Amino acid sequence: MRASVTANRDYGIAKIDSRLYGAFLEHLGRAIYTGIYEPDHKSADANGMRKDVIELVRELKVPIVRYPGGNFVSAYNWEDGVGPRKARPTRLDLAWHTSESNAVGVHEFAQWSEAAGAEMMLAINLGSRGLDEARNFVEYVNGPTGSAWGDLRKKHGRSEPFAVRHWCLGNEMDGPWQVGHKTADEYGRLANEVAKTLRAFDRSLELIVCGSSNSDMKSYPEWERIVLEHTYDAIDHISLHMYFANRGKNTAEYLALNAKLDAYIGAIASTIEFVRARKRSRKRVTISFDEWNVWYHSNVQDREILGGAKGWPHAPRLLEDIYNFEDALQVGCILNTFIRRSDVVKIACIAQLVNVIAPIMTEPGGAAWRQTIFYPYYFASAYGRGEALQLSVKSPGYDSEVADNVPYLDIAGVHDEAGKTLTFFAVNRHGGETLDLDVDLQGFAAARVMDHQVMTSADLEAVNTLKKPMTVAPKAGSGAEVKDERLTARLPRHSYQMIRLALA
Ligand code: AHR
Repeated sequence: MRASVTANRDYGIAKIDSRLYGAFLEHLGRAIYTGIYEPDHKSADANGMRKDVIELVRELKVPIVRYPGGNFVSAYNWEDGVGPRKARPTRLDLAWHTSESNAVGVHEFAQWSEAAGAEMMLAINLGSRGLDEARNFVEYVNGPTGSAWGDLRKKHGRSEPFAVRHWCLGNEMDGPWQVGHKTADEYGRLANEVAKTLRAFDRSLELIVCGSSNSDMKSYPEWERIVLEHTYDAIDHISLHMYFANRGKNTAEYLALNAKLDAYIGAIASTIEFVRARKRSRKRVTISFDEWNVWYHSNVQDREILGGAKGWPHAPRLLEDIYNFEDALQVGCILNTFIRRSDVVKIACIAQLVNVIAPIMTEPGGAAWRQTIFYPYYFASAYGRGEALQLSVKSPGYDSEVADNVPYLDIAGVHDEAGKTLTFFAVNRHGGETLDLDVDLQGFAAARVMDHQVMTSADLEAVNTLKKPMTVAPKAGSGAEVKDERLTARLPRHSYQMIRLALA
């Protein structure tokens, strides 16, 4: 099977925003407790944070992390997580039916983010709470000393404002499961008032309103239209979420799902344009795709905890999906979609980062290790910076439930002019045939292959585990070459590739 691609130096989509490779950490399961925070662990730093985990997060070059939820945030009192630890209350978390000790709050998360080299993106509770708590929280985090909230922060050990730029106005407010769920009109009105108030405090904040929890929601995409009608002038981004699953054990259907993601982004990009035109606005709201990942492996084992059968455990093993090789291919396709839609998607957060549907896993008191999906995320984050290229792709394809003629080749290209590199991320979706790739490199004279990494496996269900953490890992590829301004490579069946060219 053959696929031909044209990459032209002058045909760019957009400069990729580094926030496209963000992540998410929620007070859920073991994401925080025994995930990033484990004071008794041998690698713990002075703040009780696991240094082995910080190293892996640094390896991923995660630019921004959303916190503290998620569904958790919709009944969260941020005040519970500040001040002397001994005085912090234990609360019942209604979203995940667990106990929250509040040993970690915004101060500890700030210390962790700094150590991990990531910016903070904080979510505000607009479920059980409202405008007043929102403004108090933002003032506590960002306000100057000399006023009540700034002085309280100073009393708690931090004199300088945290200077958090990104604020999510609630979480999945369209979802009936959400504490304080609202209609689009109710939420839109509230979010607009909160946004106006926060802007009165600081005009430079980047504010994110809730879009749909997924594109199967009944209210989608009317939800986005209504919310944007209310908030367009006061906010910067609209948030979308989507999770992927292969419940039917049908790999071809599973790997076609990023076509659904692409359509979702396209529909909301058009909705933004529609509202913008109605408002006669020059401003461009963009998309913050702040929850995405594969999520289904752990569903059955989670039911007992979520149903309350196990009481209110602290930091149980919730949503601990163990990812297989097939999921790594899926994550490669998802990231390619974000690169291709980087004209409108400016922020995206893999959900989540540690232990909970995550690329990084930890054992309490033991090691931290990389799941299969760590690698495509790593390659995109490390090398997918620069300008996304508008590739012309000719590949055989197949019809799926979500789209017709899904190409067997899923590919994205990124040109880093300053770094003088051109990088391709490619997935061969075909389960039986090698794909002969031929890329016409227009305007990229004297390119040469500097790195070629491949992920393949005879077993789509192969996983990494604590005991065998390297079963699925990239290997150096061979055979990719550039000759006469053409890149050729052979992509084995069901494989992921990262091919990096050095430019003259
Ligand atoms: O990431 C897990 C959960 O998925 C989040 O708490 C929620 O926002 C979404 O439904």
